[in-house]
Amino acid sequence: MFEVLPQLPADPILGLSAAFKADPNPQKIDLGVGVYKDEKGLTPIPTAVAKAQRILLETEDSKTYISPRGVPGFVDGLLELLLGKGHPALLEDRIAAVQAPGGCGSLSIVSELLKRCNADATVWYSDPTWANHIPLIGKAGLKLEKYPYFDKATASVKFDEMIDCLKANAKAGDIVLLHGCCHNPTGADLTQEQWQELASVLADKGLLPFVDIAYLGFGDGLEEDAYGLRLMVEKLPEVALAASCSKNFGLYRERTGLAALITTSKVVKEAIQTQIQSIARAIYSMSPAYGGALVDIVLNTPDLRAEWVAEVDAMRERMKELRALLVTKLAEKGANKDFAFVNQQKGMFSFLCITPEQVLEMRNKHSVYFVESSRVNIAGISKENVDALAEALVSVL
Ligand SMILES: Cc1ncc(COP(=O)(O)O)c(C=O)c1O
Repeated sequence: MFEVLPQLPADPILGLSAAFKADPNPQKIDLGVGVYKDEKGLTPIPTAVAKAQRILLETEDSKTYISPRGVPGFVDGLLELLLGKGHPALLEDRIAAVQAPGGCGSLSIVSELLKRCNADATVWYSDPTWANHIPLIGKAGLKLEKYPYFDKATASVKFDEMIDCLKANAKAGDIVLLHGCCHNPTGADLTQEQWQELASVLADKGLLPFVDIAYLGFGDGLEEDAYGLRLMVEKLPEVALAASCSKNFGLYRERTGLAALITTSKVVKEAIQTQIQSIARAIYSMSPAYGGALVDIVLNTPDLRAEWVAEVDAMRERMKELRALLVTKLAEKGANKDFAFVNQQKGMFSFLCITPEQVLEMRNKHSVYFVESSRVNIAGISKENVDALAEALVSVL
């Protein structure tokens, strides 16, 4: 029976990595896959996480199943990191949450839950959004519609159009998917004023915010990047949340994430807790423990937590410096376009706002690899490759 299915085309980003590996040019530059890289092009294990691994090796005395909710110190610690210590929703015990396999697993659990709550809901997502949002959310059977978000011509957020679209088209009970910070793929985030206006529109229209937060700490800081999420939790009665520890804890392959639903009361929370656990149970039973156990140790051991905060700060500052360096080099090399907007964008990604033809020319003539949308991984830039990168970009403009 297997022959009935056709071969699918290669995933565009994974296909790009394969093409990069096969390129014999020693000067090639990889700005494709979304993983943090240091100056040597490596994706390190943060030292605080490496120390937590050693502690876990010494202290873990069983591999028996963990509870369906996950490692308690992970779930509670991450919620506290995201919402702030002593948050009313935590004190009132009205957040249902499960540890899940990565941000993807968390998005999937939340989407299944939303479908159980309201099968007629439409999920509104930004145009553009992270490519995997569509299959992950669509698989749960929810309808998907785009709202305008990014204007390539001005390299900025089309906030008025976004708001007008949601006001005109979204119906009460619909869901609005939001990137908590460091929008993937554009790097263009909402300002605090825009978050506030958006929160009032969602409240007025009875729309549910679904916040995906995968880059906490990579934009302006661990506290600052939680602004939009915290505001939504303050202004709206209910919020859906999917968080990933892949990037900021460097735990990509350990599949470490959190699915959470901020509800209106402890009673509702208890019902939703059983629902999300039953969704997980029917797919993979319970989350892998390892990554969560490490995050638990890091967040709940004061010196490791301080070390990790400093490491996140260093990753963020490095990416900011690289943005500034690229913008300066492009100007120095006579770019006929102003790339200052790259300095305003946040996190690991930037849209360079060039055409797919120009992206392909950079790939084919200069061995610079990134996706056709013009999204680049800022962490793939280094002091060593920035001149070649800027020259290649100027030559295709
Ligand atoms: C916006 C966004 N959400 C969620 C994820 C999921 O991350 P993971 O499943 O690797 O934890 C990513 C990863 O690239 C992402 O960019």
